Amino acid sequence: MLLLNDRYLNAPVLQRLDRSMSSVTVPPPACLLRPLEAPLRYLFGPGPSNVPPRVLAAGGRPIIGHLHPEMYGIMNDIKKGIQYAFQTENKMTISMSGSGHAAMECAVFNAVEPGESVLVAVNGIWGERVAEIAERMGANVHKMVKAPGGYFTNKEIEQAVEKHKPVLFFLTHGESSAGLCHPMDGIGDICRKHNCLFLVDTVASLGAAPIYMDKQSIDILYTGSQKALNAPPGTAPISFNERACQKMFNRKTKPVSYLFDMTHLSNYWGCDGKPARAYHHTGPVSGFFALRESLAILAETGLEESWRKHKEVSGYLQRGLEDLGLKLFIPERDLRLPSVTTIAIPEGYDWREMLVYIMKNHQMEMTGGLGPSIGMVMRIGLMGYNCEKTNADMALQALADALKNCKKTRG
Ligand SMILES: Cc1ncc(COP(=O)(O)O)c(C=O)c1O
Repeated sequence: MLLLNDRYLNAPVLQRLDRSMSSVTVPPPACLLRPLEAPLRYLFGPGPSNVPPRVLAAGGRPIIGHLHPEMYGIMNDIKKGIQYAFQTENKMTISMSGSGHAAMECAVFNAVEPGESVLVAVNGIWGERVAEIAERMGANVHKMVKAPGGYFTNKEIEQAVEKHKPVLFFLTHGESSAGLCHPMDGIGDICRKHNCLFLVDTVASLGAAPIYMDKQSIDILYTGSQKALNAPPGTAPISFNERACQKMFNRKTKPVSYLFDMTHLSNYWGCDGKPARAYHHTGPVSGFFALRESLAILAETGLEESWRKHKEVSGYLQRGLEDLGLKLFIPERDLRLPSVTTIAIPEGYDWREMLVYIMKNHQMEMTGGLGPSIGMVMRIGLMGYNCEKTNADMALQALADALKNCKKTRG
């Protein structure tokens, strides 16, 4: 009888054979009796990106306690790495235990109280997302809206700030759904003049395009681990300057989230000046090991070199795409995001079919648009470890192959 074959006689199967001897009524799932399968893929989409072996190895180190002194040392290193990557001296600099969304929510939940006015620049999905987060916690949300790929002039921003008098203005530096890298200069000064905090999302741009938190008067800045930083998804650096701390630590109400309350997180990360760091939650120890290693790579490479390389490789990719007859979605060269390049869907092709073809035949991830840019763009991300001309060549070959072999459906 098949079940008596030795191969199958492991403990869970024996348990299933005789239910009467077992107290469990839900059997062990058959899928979990098979080994984990995670194929090797070229992650050339907007993230996550492939993780270098050195960072994977760091994440695979034996676990230590989240409150051990060695762990505090590692968290202090991470803090220094984030200060470098953000170009800030803010002492209130930590990593969230969670993805980029955790940092978005932490920023909004702590800086804003219900009923306060928030102004959000929406030119892709990330503004939409922050507006929704702020609405959910009871803020009075005002949106400045442009089509994906559009950007806001400083004059437009100042007019909207004057009109809505927000306590917080949100802008995405690297709009990954549209492939836009938004100009940053002067906006922090406008916010300061109007007594409003300036919150910036650099999840898709940190390490790939210049950002200077202190020099550009950014009050709250966050990023994610899985893009140009090349760590696994699940941690998200964030920093608050003095102005932001003044606002968030003098609230009348408690933030809606206990997990994301900066009063607790600042103590957990040793930023509040108190002698003891208390238990708040169990941080992702392996994720922090990996994040520390990715920040170490950035420190060794140097920010300026990392920015230069992303610019060089994205420029090379863009020229190759134009040579294939493809149209870049962002016409202004200087506004193109160096980590995620967007192309207009080629006339007559079904973008989904092309992406499936590329995945099936080249084991390569590229993606379509996201939120308002769905059906408008295809996205190619070459960030951090993946930011190499050889990878750009592979992506171009895969696209050329798809253009040749996917049937034209229209036009
Ligand atoms: C610009 C931007 N902001 C925020 C996020 C959300 O990050 P996460 O998916 O890690 O929560 C992303 C993810 O793609 C992003 O590109």
